[in-house]
Amino acid sequence: MKHFLKETDFTPQEVAEVFALARKLKAERGQETLDVLKHQTWALIFSKSSTRTRVSFEVGVHELGGNPLFLNKNDIQLGRGESVEDTAKVLSRFVHGLIVRTYEHAEVDRLAASGTIPVINALTDFLHPCQIYTDAFTMAERWAPKGGDMFASLKGRKIAFLGDTACNMANSWILGAALFGMKISLSGPKGFEPGPEIDALLKQEGFEKNYHYTTDAFEAVKDADVVYTDVWVSMGKEEETKQRIALMSPYAVTPELFAAAKADALFMHCLPAHPGEEVSQGVLDNPRSIIFDQAENRLHVQKAIMASLVSEKTCA
Ligand code: CP
Ligand code: NVA
Repeated sequence: MKHFLKETDFTPQEVAEVFALARKLKAERGQETLDVLKHQTWALIFSKSSTRTRVSFEVGVHELGGNPLFLNKNDIQLGRGESVEDTAKVLSRFVHGLIVRTYEHAEVDRLAASGTIPVINALTDFLHPCQIYTDAFTMAERWAPKGGDMFASLKGRKIAFLGDTACNMANSWILGAALFGMKISLSGPKGFEPGPEIDALLKQEGFEKNYHYTTDAFEAVKDADVVYTDVWVSMGKEEETKQRIALMSPYAVTPELFAAAKADALFMHCLPAHPGEEVSQGVLDNPRSIIFDQAENRLHVQKAIMASLVSEKTCA
């Protein structure tokens, strides 16, 4: 059984195929013939809020011929203490796939280990792989020549990640950069350096420590092809809001900081954004900001991910 819990759950060759399929699905939207989820129901179990992930998966499952079933964790017995393992076993008797947004990363691993259906990580405190694949696809739309190899177009490019350099997006971009052959420089306050957990995962997946971390935001964005940021207060960290804003304000992506990257650098943000905090409104509105393409592409890329998981199902 194949799952998508972290970036490296697909090989580079498989990622290239996911991108090619996503590009085809995007071009053919409205007259797609791919109905690989026909007669299937995929459950979304969400313990946190979501706009993009929830809607893109619900629409995506529907467009692949399936039925999406949204389950707020608190509406099912999982929220009242039924075990993750029993939940996985029971849901495996009813539905054909699970799309899970939760806090502890171990929860998606346990669901995958206990059930008999594919599990997709729709964000944990540790990783957000659906977002990273979509981001890479969105960059490659600009960098790959028409019909060219999208995956190959990422190699050697530099991403600068600013702000909360210990969050799920930072971790996922560290692993994603290793997988795509990109350079990554991260800049955030002391105390928010990328942690031992991501270092251990890199090692486990066969990569050398690939990232550069600095407290100097201008050093990080030098020669960057992409300037990327995320909220300073991730879901679950609300109690630290005041302290985080104070510490992270030197890492806001202002027009000055963005201008210090390459002249044709792209600005990206997974959204939701907090203009005036991690990014200025002027940067969000810059013609080189591709934030809404990123958001749209969640749909196309996740459809391709689901299609790949389903076609792999028999080769466990
Ligand atoms: N980027 C992202 O995952 O957004 P949502 O929280 O709206 O799903
Ligand atoms: N780091 C953010 C990402 C939101 C898509 C969070 O976890 O809240």
